[in-house]
Amino acid sequence: MAQNIVVQVGQCGSQIGCRFWDLALREHASLMSTTNSKKCIYDASLSAFFRNVDSKNTSLSYPSPIHTLKARAVLVDMEEGVLRSILASPLRDLFDGEQFIRDVSGAGNNWAVGNRFYGAKYRDILSEEIRRQAEQCDSLQSFMLIHSMGGGTGSGLGTFILSLLDEIYPKVCRIVTPVYPSKDDDVITSPYNSVLATRELTEHADCVIPVDNDSLIDIVSRCDSSTKIKDDGRRPFDSMNTIVANLILNLTSSSRFDGPLNVDLSEIPMNLVPYPRMHYLISSQVPAPFKITTNSSIPRNINQIFRDALSPHFQTLRVQPNINGVYIACGMIIRSKTIQMSDIRRNIDLLKLKHMKFVKWNEDGWKIGLCTVPPNGLPYSLLTLANHTCIKETFVELKERFTTLYRRKAHVHHYTDHIELNDFEQARENLNQLIEEYKQIEQTSGLLDTNENENLSSTNIPRLNFGEQCLNDQWPP
Ligand code: GTP
Ligand code: MG
Repeated sequence: MAQNIVVQVGQCGSQIGCRFWDLALREHASLMSTTNSKKCIYDASLSAFFRNVDSKNTSLSYPSPIHTLKARAVLVDMEEGVLRSILASPLRDLFDGEQFIRDVSGAGNNWAVGNRFYGAKYRDILSEEIRRQAEQCDSLQSFMLIHSMGGGTGSGLGTFILSLLDEIYPKVCRIVTPVYPSKDDDVITSPYNSVLATRELTEHADCVIPVDNDSLIDIVSRCDSSTKIKDDGRRPFDSMNTIVANLILNLTSSSRFDGPLNVDLSEIPMNLVPYPRMHYLISSQVPAPFKITTNSSIPRNINQIFRDALSPHFQTLRVQPNINGVYIACGMIIRSKTIQMSDIRRNIDLLKLKHMKFVKWNEDGWKIGLCTVPPNGLPYSLLTLANHTCIKETFVELKERFTTLYRRKAHVHHYTDHIELNDFEQARENLNQLIEEYKQIEQTSGLLDTNENENLSSTNIPRLNFGEQCLNDQWPP
């Protein structure tokens, strides 16, 4: 099994990253206990995200302190608070000192400070630590980057690290989970940071699975009316982060466990991203657990699970694939002992027939993963990853919020010590281009009887040649 390195940046990235490590350890520890083995045999499954540092002592019992494993991770924050609290948590022994890259004063919610100032200051240290982590892998498969789009360190330094990974390891898959801010986010400059960072994501990531804080709050408050935004504006980050961490757990399940139909992380962009720039995948997760421990009584039959997968209630981004636009490709990663290939085949046929409109040139654009290890405490999970043109709604809305500020050049002077106005304009232009590219797909799909590939190539969107890696090679199996 290949290995993966998590790079968690800024407050949000660090908090979600640590929830991922927490849940991953619980999952592996619980599996060991159900197989009646008190001893943890450090195996390929654990090696996907952990290194073994004590070959004699192989027991794993979490949340007791972990002395045998180190996470394949780099933790970066330009403020100390969150990293210090990790050192006071049960996760502390999972990292050694060199894995923490930190400063004291933060990037002040300013992309330019994170990207240019801290990028230049920490470039060598970051490169060295990333190399050190990479050298401890036999077969490095992917970098998973987690950060917010609203804060300065996450958006700025996070995307600086992404470009560094592209430069040092161009062949290793780069998957990013960025957290887009709520519409009423208290970071006033978050539209600038998000637009500047989106340009970097478009250029340097292989695949981006964006989540937004509004959707996460929706999911949490729908399931539990007691966890809402507090009167003082505080958001239930803990529950929201658990949803994102579960998403990453499900996404990586095939990299951690064997299954009848495995999906390696590098296969996700390979199969779901026909146009390199259009690599934004809308995710939904059924169920969407927001508590660390879950109980398994979820009354759903198999068909209902698949219908839920397309419900906006389970989406981690506020867009409407059921109403607007077309699917360019779609992936589903199922974790269950009981769901069979025949169930999947039947349900996908039903969904395609009734609910899903695909571009004509990729009507069978599916990638399916089936992992027989269900999530800890649950009987199943279904993660959907949709490459769908309605993602442009996110970019349109972001552009509007950016323009409202930029029209007045509000707060721009905080940035111009480090970047030019031209950087703002190029970032906005990238957003315009993305929106146009998705619109072109919509305009050409379903409307033309002639050879669509020819028509699409006349849109000048660079497209990958799927060739032998065509989506259909896995489906039907
Ligand atoms: P600076 O503090 O500016 O150096 O950057 P940072 O990367 O540390 O900022 P942070 O990650 O705090 O980014 C602020 C944005 O992230 C805002 O939109 C917050 O609402 C959101 N945010 C902060 N922490 C969390 C978290 O734990 N979970 C989620 N979902 N969002 C968070
Ligand atoms: Mg911070």
